[in-house]
Amino acid sequence: MGSRISRFGLYMMAFLSVGTALYSMRFAAIPAGVWLGIDDGIRSVVERIPLSALSHMIVAPIALFAGAFQFFGSIRAHRPALHRAMGRVYVVACVVAGIAGLATALHASGGPIAGLGFGTLAVLWIAVTVGAWRAAVMRKFDLHRLLMRFSYAMTFGAVTLRLQIPLFIMAGYASYSDVSVWLAYTAWIPNVIVVGLWSMVEALRKSALMPA
Ligand code: HEM
Repeated sequence: MGSRISRFGLYMMAFLSVGTALYSMRFAAIPAGVWLGIDDGIRSVVERIPLSALSHMIVAPIALFAGAFQFFGSIRAHRPALHRAMGRVYVVACVVAGIAGLATALHASGGPIAGLGFGTLAVLWIAVTVGAWRAAVMRKFDLHRLLMRFSYAMTFGAVTLRLQIPLFIMAGYASYSDVSVWLAYTAWIPNVIVVGLWSMVEALRKSALMPA
């Protein structure tokens, strides 16, 4: 039963991640002058700092997409070369999109408080992802698994952010830019807490301090 629930969770995570990544790819049309359904606040950020904003908005979805399949045990077991190749793509995309995201955070449409939330996220995202990659290179696979969970919890913030927007709008906020001061924190901190609790329960079960 438990494993069926976690498999359903994995499929849901992959489905939402791939959907969000593909939807975000509309930013790749901006250099050709096509602005498909882009919020006015975000448009003004892109117009002010096109290089860092577009580098972030086009590369970050690659991380979201590549990471979505890394948690499937079947891929890791049967296609280890694919897991390593996708892992490299994921790490490079996180570092490039993270640096560009940090630069973009300084100009966030929600102002400096939103910028602080996104900036903190960018620094943690890069540090945790690089740490996870180094752990794999050093063959410390338990640490690699744990850090990659935290890394993807932050990456998945791109999904939870977009799921939260309609809830804030229903609560009376007018647009994305009004809400982003909250989203810069609510999009990723709960994900990190969930992964922390999940990993703690798992460790307790392994040590037989808690029933399976
Ligand atoms: C985890 C670290 C991340 C950081 C620090 C970060 C940072 C930012 C910042 C500062 C903005 C501008 C927001 C504003 O002006 O209000 C932004 C927008 C954007 N980011 Fe990220 N981001 C991250 C992850 C991702 C991921 C994984 C994706 C993948 C889809 C993504 C895709 C986008 C897109 C498409 C936008 C344009 C606005 C929108 O469509 O909502 N970001 N990000």
